[in-house]
Amino acid sequence: MIVAIDGPAGSGKGTVTEIISKKLNLTNISTGDAYRCVALFAIENNVNENETEKIIKLLDEIQIEFKKEQDKDVVFLNGKNVDKRIRQKDVTNIVSKVSAIKEVRFKLNELFRKISENKNVIMEGRDIGTCVFPNADVKIYLDASLEERAKRRVKQNEELGIDIPYEEVLESIRKRDEQDKTKEVGALIQADDAIYIDSSNLSIEEVSDKIIQIIENK
Ligand code: DC
Repeated sequence: MIVAIDGPAGSGKGTVTEIISKKLNLTNISTGDAYRCVALFAIENNVNENETEKIIKLLDEIQIEFKKEQDKDVVFLNGKNVDKRIRQKDVTNIVSKVSAIKEVRFKLNELFRKISENKNVIMEGRDIGTCVFPNADVKIYLDASLEERAKRRVKQNEELGIDIPYEEVLESIRKRDEQDKTKEVGALIQADDAIYIDSSNLSIEEVSDKIIQIIENK
């Protein structure tokens, strides 16, 4: 079974997919984390987000793995746990631009499909229901107001020890929404057959329960 959860930054995708994956025993894959790994690898190699050809070349040197550590889903880049590092500001600032490169998307989509083979998967991102798994069994488009999403991201950052003021987070999400929605390939868009959930006034538990019910009905 493939469950696709798409939606903009801060809509709660990451948190609810982690909860649902545990409750229903599904493999949890955050595709945004993989795009963040590519952005981080570019930074580590002194390549900026406009150097498309150089980023494409770097793809051959990148190995991304999703693992579980102490019951938490974490992402590894070339054997190193980068789960916290990829949420830092420098990565966040360039990831949308890096993810707009077609070759990056093709390479990562291949990875996402390969690691989902013969598994029951819940995968979250921007284009899972439209591009990665257009035949997914369940498709959810999770949304929330810009202000609510920024508030949540500030709280999440605080928990990770990342200190970025609300106004800055709001502006960064607004810019990222715009970039994510206008990509040539893999743009953030609701699939025709996706179920829309506005989580602005719902708790994490309410959203998770709603989605679990949809999955179980399937
Ligand atoms: O989910 P996130 O905010 O960690 O994602 C980081 C960036 O990666 C996001 O700005 C857009 C990009 N992304 C994408 O283009 N396609 C996906 N399926 C997931 C993320």
